[in-house]
Formats: sequence, C-alpha cells, structure tokens
Amino acid sequence: MQRLTNRQILLGITGGIAAYKSAELTRQLRAAGAEVRIVMTPAATEFITPLTLQALSGNPVHLHLLDAEAEAGMGHIELAKWADLVLIAPASADFMARLANGQGNDLLTTLCLATEAPICLAPAMNQAMWRDSATQLNAAKLTERGVKLFGPGVGEQACGDNGPGRMLEPVELAQLTAEQFDTGLLTGKTVYITAGPTREPLDPVRYISNHSSGKMGYALAESAVDAGARVKLISGPVNLAAPARLQRVMVQTAEEMLAASLDGLDDCDIFIASAAVADYRPTAVAEQKIKKGAEEIMELHLVKNPDIVATVANQADKPFTVGFAAETRDVIEYARSKLDRKNLDMIVANDVSRSEIGFNSDENAVTVVSRQAEIELPQTSKRQLAGQLIRLIAEQYRQRSGR
Ligand code: PMT
Repeated sequence: MQRLTNRQILLGITGGIAAYKSAELTRQLRAAGAEVRIVMTPAATEFITPLTLQALSGNPVHLHLLDAEAEAGMGHIELAKWADLVLIAPASADFMARLANGQGNDLLTTLCLATEAPICLAPAMNQAMWRDSATQLNAAKLTERGVKLFGPGVGEQACGDNGPGRMLEPVELAQLTAEQFDTGLLTGKTVYITAGPTREPLDPVRYISNHSSGKMGYALAESAVDAGARVKLISGPVNLAAPARLQRVMVQTAEEMLAASLDGLDDCDIFIASAAVADYRPTAVAEQKIKKGAEEIMELHLVKNPDIVATVANQADKPFTVGFAAETRDVIEYARSKLDRKNLDMIVANDVSRSEIGFNSDENAVTVVSRQAEIELPQTSKRQLAGQLIRLIAEQYRQRSGR
C-alpha cells in the first residue's frame, strides 16, 4: 500500500447500492497516503451524500459538468490532468455503457475522455445485468481500450440474487489500486529537507541573511516526492511557491529552523540540509529601529547559532543525514572535514565561488562526498541534479539500513 503515498486518485462514484462502500474506500486510500478527489454522478447522490465524502476525502466533491464555481477553481480539465489514476467504484451498467460508447454527457464521463491517467472500474450491479450480453460487450470494449476492471466479485447481492456483480470490498480495491503504481526509490520513507536562507533580525526592519534562493532545496523536495517519499520541506524566506504533495513549514531564523527540524524527527528516515543557515545572529534584537549615530564605525555583537544538521546527526536514533558544504576554496577538503565534524553520512560539496552555479542560479554542479566514495555530478539544472542526488541518497540509505 506504500505505493499510494503522494498519489492523486480521482474516485468516481456512480449510482448503485454499493456507493455506501465508497466512504470506506476513500478512508482506505487516504490512510495509504493518497490524496483523493471525488466526482459523483447525480444518481450516486441518491445513495450517499456528497457531504459525507467531502468530510472523508478532505476535498470538495465535484458534481456538475457546467459548474461555474468549480470551473473557476478546479474545473473538469484540471481534474482530468490532476489525476494519477481514475478509479470508478461502484461503476454501474449504465456508466459502463456510456463510457464504452465514448459519451461525455456528465462530469465523470467527460473526465474519463479528457484524462491521460489510467482508468479502473469496479463494476457493481445485479448478476443478470452483469451477465447481459450488452454489458459483457461494453466490458470487453473497455478492456480492449486499456480500462482495467477490478472484479466484480461473486456472492449474495442486495436484491437477494446470488452471482457475479458484487463490488469488491474497499480493502481489495485499495490494494488493486496500489498495485497499479511502481514502487519509487523512497516509497514509504519520510524525508525532511531544509532549504533557503535564514534571516537573523537586528531590529524590526533589518536582518542578516545570504543569497540562497531555495531553488536547490525545493528541487530536492520535488525529486523526493517523485521518488515516493513523504516530504517535510523546512523553508527559510524565499520567493518560491510550495511544491505540490508535500508539507511546507516556513521559518525565518536558524532557531526556528532547528525547532521545525526536531519536530517529529523520530519519524524521519532521511534528513537533507541544503539550507544556508546563518552561522551567527545578533546577541540582541533592538525593539525599535536602530538610529544612525555620529560614530563612523558601528560594532555588532553576534552569538553562534545552533548547528541544525549537526544536532540532527547527533541524535541517538539519527536519520540518514546529508549536509551541503558551500565553499569558495579547498571545496572537497572542507566538505570532508564537515562530514566528520558534524557526524554526517554524506555531504554535497558545492563550489559557490562560481556565479553560474551555487547560490541563486538555476544550475549547479557538485561533488558528493561520503566515507566510501567521491562522485562528481557535472553542471546541469538544479531539477536534474536533484534527481541524481536523490538517487544516490536513496542507494546509500538502503545500503546503510540494509533495506
Ligand atoms: O538556495 P540556492 O540559491 O538554490 O543555493 C543552493 C545552496 C548554494 C545554498 C546549496 O547548494 C548549499 O550549498 N547549501 C549549504 C549552504 C551552507 O550554509 O553551507 P555551510 O557549509 O555553511 O554549512 C554546512 C552544512 O551545515 C549545510 O548542510 C548547512 O545547511 C548546515 N548548517 C550550517 C550552519 C548551521 N547553523 N546549521 C546547519 O544546519
């Protein structure tokens, strides 16, 4: 079921007595880590209320094709693009007929026409309706077009008949849905990533900071999500939108970043520190704006900030911990000494003396240093590089943990 982590499932519900089981199916999918959005046909609302499904899915339920409000938010084309998989459960005989004939006469059939995601159906109907040659023909047409059929099961039916046509149980449907996805390199793992700069205030209008844009850390977070991880992105102040499918925690100072990093750390499998944390902060923050005086030189008193990655790496049950080293000279040598001093499992050495890579650029080039190896990753986009780094981190994490 871990394969469902971060997956976006569009659950279509059509009219049938088995619609009541969709509530439990929604719960099962969400418990397995999927995000669920629900589309109901008008007939489905006769069997279960949209309100129940809204509460269980945590998202508004979509009902109408031409809904001005929905089109302004997440309209039918966006929903079709959003889905990683469309699961229709229960799928009535009427719905199967309309889908088999390529009709788009309600929101759900339109979505099925518009989506490029795989479509799976859980047929649910009376045994005679299932056996009917028209339904069998529609089922064959749909299978031929690549639609997967989950079931139906055989057994006693709500109408008192016995035979094929029962919708499979929610737990079986959730399992079959999970099996449609490959296992990612980090499926089921929890990854914390720090990104961006910290800001250490001097007074209400001034602060000490650096040029980190957060691009490297955000790219790592997106790659970790793509690899199937649950990601907490702990971000300093940056001008980047929150990537989808992860938890973002915004912080300002190093102390706040430390608190967010330690929060829930017991559940963290891999910790990646790409943030450019201010090593020092002012000893005191002035309550009012500091006024210019007559003196030519002004002295600032600074105190050392806590070392976030070293604190994490020195916990008794530490996660696999990866640091970055931003250096302007003797890059590998300094990176190696940080690897040892901070008790890290791996460090990414970043030459920040070059303006086309490192801080606030779209590209980067790094050397990954561990106790076993030194691997150079040549200049490329931060997104590409992040993918390569996540692969290396996942490999070494598995080797270390024997998983
Ligand atoms: O954000 P971008 O514009 O995309 O730029 C990316 C980057 C250049 C910021 C990034 O690739 C990078 O090199 N990040 C590390 C920057 C840094 O602060 O390096 P450092 O050598 O000073 O610190 C070593 C490690 O200790 C880092 O993992 C850092 O996050 C961590 N650290 C440092 C100080 C501190 N008080 N706490 C920490 O956790």
